[in-house]
Amino acid sequence: MNPLSQFVVALLVLFPLQVAAYSNGKVEASCVTMVPNHPYPIQNSSAPYTLTASNTTYQSGDKITVTLTNTTEEYPIEGFMIQVRQQNSNTPLGSFTVSGSEVQTLTCTTAASAVSHTSDLAKSIVQVTWIAPKENISDIYLRATVVRNGSIFWTNLVGPKLTYVGSGGSHLTVR
Ligand SMILES: *[C@@H]1O[C@H](CO)[C@@H](O)[C@H](O)[C@H]1NC(C)=O
Ligand SMILES: *[C@@H]1O[C@H](CO)[C@@H](O)[C@H](O)[C@H]1NC(C)=O
Ligand SMILES: *[C@@H]1O[C@H](CO)[C@@H](O)[C@H](O)[C@H]1NC(C)=O
Ligand SMILES: *[C@@H]1O[C@H](CO)[C@@H](O)[C@H](O)[C@H]1NC(C)=O
Ligand SMILES: *[C@@H]1O[C@H](CO)[C@@H](O)[C@H](O)[C@H]1NC(C)=O
Repeated sequence: MNPLSQFVVALLVLFPLQVAAYSNGKVEASCVTMVPNHPYPIQNSSAPYTLTASNTTYQSGDKITVTLTNTTEEYPIEGFMIQVRQQNSNTPLGSFTVSGSEVQTLTCTTAASAVSHTSDLAKSIVQVTWIAPKENISDIYLRATVVRNGSIFWTNLVGPKLTYVGSGGSHLTVR
């Protein structure tokens, strides 16, 4: 075989394996970049998805419901990764809890600091709980990557800013 046909055969053999490997959402390899390891360019258009929070202020350890939804029928959610980050930082903050079989937590730097899909079934809504950190961290935002299918994905979906408003009254220690 000449090198070109070897390359084509290698692609045909490797590509389905790669897609299969990532459809289970074990995408820790993308923790830092939040870019799926797919051999296609990132979409530059505004993502046809919304990322919202049940509360945009937090106190130490608050639980905030985070919702990712599609906005058009043509672009359901097949894969995703959600984190909370400071602007211009790669470090995920806080932690997530999940319920149901369609979402899992991932260890990115710290335990459960990201969530992802468990299969590539088309979804219209993903809902998870984010547990806020104990400290005042400024300029933190919800961030998501959403995969429409193997070749079409957005990595730049920015949700609301989450603002620290104090440590709250429920964490008093008795001395
Ligand atoms: C998005 O922009 C980058 C940089 O210009 C480009 O390489 C890439 O092909 C673009 N993506 C799409 C889907 O056109
Ligand atoms: C939003 O969070 C603040 C603390 O930051 C809390 O006092 C308030 O009750 C929360 N609101 C809702 C609707 O959960
Ligand atoms: C989201 O995608 C699902 C599955 O394709 C579709 O049924 C639903 O209508 C979409 N949501 C919107 C708002 O278009
Ligand atoms: C990916 O989704 C787009 C938009 O819905 C569609 O046009 C395209 O055919 C799909 N590609 C694959 C490989 O399924
Ligand atoms: C949190 O930090 C920011 C930036 O340092 C500051 O402006 C803000 O007042 C702080 N908030 C609280 C509740 O301490």
